[in-house]
This record gives sequence, C-alpha cells and structure tokens, in this order.
Amino acid sequence: MNFSETHPIYTDRVYTDRDTANYPSHVAIIMDGNGRWAKQRLLNRIKGHEKGAETVRTIVECCREIGISILTLYAFSTENWQRPKVEVAALMTLLANFLKSEQKKLLDNNIRLNAIGQIERLPENVRNALHNSMVLTEENNGMLLNLALSYGARAEIVGMVKDIAIKVREGIIDPDSITDEVISDSLYTKGMPDPDLLIRTSGEMRISNFLLWQIAYTEIYVTDTLWPDFSKDEFMQILKNYQHRKRRFGKV
Ligand code: FPP
Repeated sequence: MNFSETHPIYTDRVYTDRDTANYPSHVAIIMDGNGRWAKQRLLNRIKGHEKGAETVRTIVECCREIGISILTLYAFSTENWQRPKVEVAALMTLLANFLKSEQKKLLDNNIRLNAIGQIERLPENVRNALHNSMVLTEENNGMLLNLALSYGARAEIVGMVKDIAIKVREGIIDPDSITDEVISDSLYTKGMPDPDLLIRTSGEMRISNFLLWQIAYTEIYVTDTLWPDFSKDEFMQILKNYQHRKRRFGKV
C-alpha cells in the first residue's frame, strides 16, 4: 500500500493564531555543524553530536506541533562511515539511545518512524532499536519522521536502476513505460511526496548526496547557524520565508 494512502496529510493545526497557509508538507534537513560547534568550545566533536541530538528532539517536537506531515533528517551518510572509528561508534550509540529514549514520545504524539538508507550496514543494536520503533509506530499517522541513516542518494539511484533493469529483463515492465513515477516508486521514499523545503545548517552551499532525485523542485534554505544552535524560533522564521516563495515548478 502506498504511503500517501495510509498517511493522509495532517491538517489538524495546533496553532490557530499562526498563518499556516502554504506551510510545507515535507521538510528535509541536512543537519550540519556539530563538529564546528564543539570545536568552537574546545570540546570533543562527539559533544557536538550529543548537543545536535537535543536539537533533533526540539525540531521533531516543533514539526509535530505545527502540523508538518513529513520530516526527513540526514542523520548519517554513506560517506560518514569513513569518519574515525570512535566518532562512528559514538554516533551509533547516540542513535540507539535516541531511538530508545524517544520511543514513548513517538507513540504519545502519533509519530511514525521510518528509516531510509543502507540500513543493513548499521550495527545490530541500532537495527534492533530502529526495527522496534518502526514496528511500534507503524499505525501512527500524525507525522512521519524519516531518518536518513547510512544514506546516499547515488547508492539509492544505483539500487533503483538495478531494480528496474531486473524488471525489464524479466519482462515485468517495458522500457517505454518507465516514467518519473516508476522511478520514484523504486526509491526509499516510495509513496512519499517530494520535500517542499530543504534546510541546511552551518552555511555550506552543497547537497552532499542527499535526496538527489526527490529535490528537483524543492525550495532550499541555507542558514549559517550550526545545527546544535538551531532553534524552534529560527525554524519558524524559515517557514515564514518559505510561505512567501512563489513555487513555479518550471512554469511561468
Ligand atoms: C554533521 O555535523 C552531522 C552529522 C554527520 C551527524 C548528525 C547527527 C546528529 C544531529 C545527532 C544524532 C542524530 C539523531 C537523529 C539522534 P559534522 O560533524 O559534519 O559537523 P562539521 O561539519 O562542523 O564537522
């Protein structure tokens, strides 16, 4: 079953005093700057990730509160495996702890957890914690929290091409019938609308192998704020900025 069938767009806005017209349905975030945040304070990089995890809690809570339907967070890329072993291990521990500590909150707030990426590469304790939360929250439809873990868009696209090539070889689909939709349906984000807004923290003007297919018409906002310093207030300001954008999708 298609994701959009099981997860109708959430419309029960909590804040009635706020202008929620043209709010994005799907927000994606490249959470960058944890290391620099720690360095500025002469702390170990891992402290930056720990503070970053607190920001994750704040922004998830905020998105749920204001009625964002899908929040996709770039938590660990395929390239991040090349970081020092201790940093990778600390990030995995942080993730496993986060998944365990947030489980009740996800349930209480009707949030469904999903993961996109090469999940099989994650350590067993993270996979188990993920699996538990995903199964437990499967029926929730207030918001989808999509964690991009061991995620890389090129790997996702390679997987999609292989899938479709096999179907063509087996005669399941005709090459002439390959459309945008067929491609979207072979990606991790199958059934989800594309992100409306992509936010990147810490000022770098790049996409870093994130959702390459899905962001074709996504509005982009880059802030200099480092992820651990990113706040609900700034997030709300960015939404306000988004509300005033004219999205033309290539038309006039
Ligand atoms: C980028 O900062 C951030 C990451 C590679 C990991 C993101 C992880 C978190 C925000 C915390 C854990 C996540 C969850 C979902 C609990 P960086 O280290 O590249 O920063 P730098 O560019 O300043 O070095």
